[in-house]
Amino acid sequence: MANVYENVHGNAKEKVVLAYSGGLDTSVMVKWLQLEKGLDVVAICGNVGQDAEDLAWVEKKAYDMGAVYSQALDMREEYAEDFLTKAIAANGLYEDSYPLLSALSRPLIVSKLVDIAHKTGASYIAHGCTGKGNDQVRFETCIHALDPKLKILAPVREWDLLTREQEMEWAKAHGVPVPTTAAKPYSIDDNLWGRAIECGVLEDPWMEPPADIWTMTASAEDAPDTPEEIVLGFEQGKPVSLNGEQMDLLPLIIKMNEICGKHGYGRLDMIEDRVVGLKSHECYECPASLALITMHHALETLCLDADTLQYKHLIDQQWATVVYDGLWFSQLKEALDAFCASTQAFVSGEVKARLYKGSLTVTGRRSAYSLYDFNLATYGVGDSFDRSASKGFIDLHSLPSKTWSGVQGPAARLGGEASEGDGPAFVVADSLSA
Ligand code: ARG
Repeated sequence: MANVYENVHGNAKEKVVLAYSGGLDTSVMVKWLQLEKGLDVVAICGNVGQDAEDLAWVEKKAYDMGAVYSQALDMREEYAEDFLTKAIAANGLYEDSYPLLSALSRPLIVSKLVDIAHKTGASYIAHGCTGKGNDQVRFETCIHALDPKLKILAPVREWDLLTREQEMEWAKAHGVPVPTTAAKPYSIDDNLWGRAIECGVLEDPWMEPPADIWTMTASAEDAPDTPEEIVLGFEQGKPVSLNGEQMDLLPLIIKMNEICGKHGYGRLDMIEDRVVGLKSHECYECPASLALITMHHALETLCLDADTLQYKHLIDQQWATVVYDGLWFSQLKEALDAFCASTQAFVSGEVKARLYKGSLTVTGRRSAYSLYDFNLATYGVGDSFDRSASKGFIDLHSLPSKTWSGVQGPAARLGGEASEGDGPAFVVADSLSA
């Protein structure tokens, strides 16, 4: 394939590849990087499924402001296949709640920017993240991991001290189109994996999210009065069908966002711990991601043994933290992925769930590799569980407890006085509930 960046490569000035969104900050940057830094700007907008059907206007806008090259790159399929598949396998939820939508998209975008920097001979990469968030950490950590020689420009970090009015003044004075509508009251980031809403009135953690922040999900009140059942098919941990129809992951996620969103499922309102040390109030709507992770985990409970399930929960939490912290390209992340992948070999089968008024309830699961054994579990006809083995098992299982309570039990009583002849029975629990 012809190298579309060839013409750009030959230019005399030093070049910067800019992560361009089309918004005010990064539009000002297109001009600012030319005027203040003397660089040629290559503007790249990553399409990761954000709420913008046609990104052609973004390409044009950067050209209008003098970019030497501008491109809206469709990264959705790669995002689904190479990033979201892993997120599902790891049940990726930061602080057991947030499905990592921003954290997952950044390493993919960065990998493209670095690649384009190489193809165009650019020595800089610039991004529009503020100096207070996680995304700057993710962008820059990923760039350092992929090519430590690339230099990074983060102009918004310098402008954090500017007011929006001052930024608009600069924009007007330098021919950058400024929005005619009032400033958006929230900071939004969205892609296939969901939508993040922060800032504005949400800075008060007692503030219930106003109804106008939600765009992907109906309110429970407005959701249909009739429940809807969905069936997802999985192969080795990856969703492969919806309601019996085989689908690639990208269209499946798009469809799931639509169905689950319609039923008002997937809203989150949480306090989150940022990498840079502060707590923030974050709202998310994540219909597809939360549904896929919940249903995937339901299948794992059928196909993984108890030890693996419990251990994997720790791995899943660590995976989420590593990804949240911007360490996608790291040794630990690779190792955690390898662990998850090895556990998914038999996570194949179907999961059924009911969507109704803001909720998703798993209503069934089945698999050719199910470790659920009816004859072991049943209290009815066909019972093959050997009860005679239970007594001996319990004797040995309880031996450490017996030994402990006999020796240290009385002294371990919290709050109460230990006296000679104290029985060993549940002293800790008793005193805690007193
Ligand atoms: N708090 C989330 C995260 O760090 C969402 C960030 C959203 N980014 C934004 N620019 N609004 O992953």
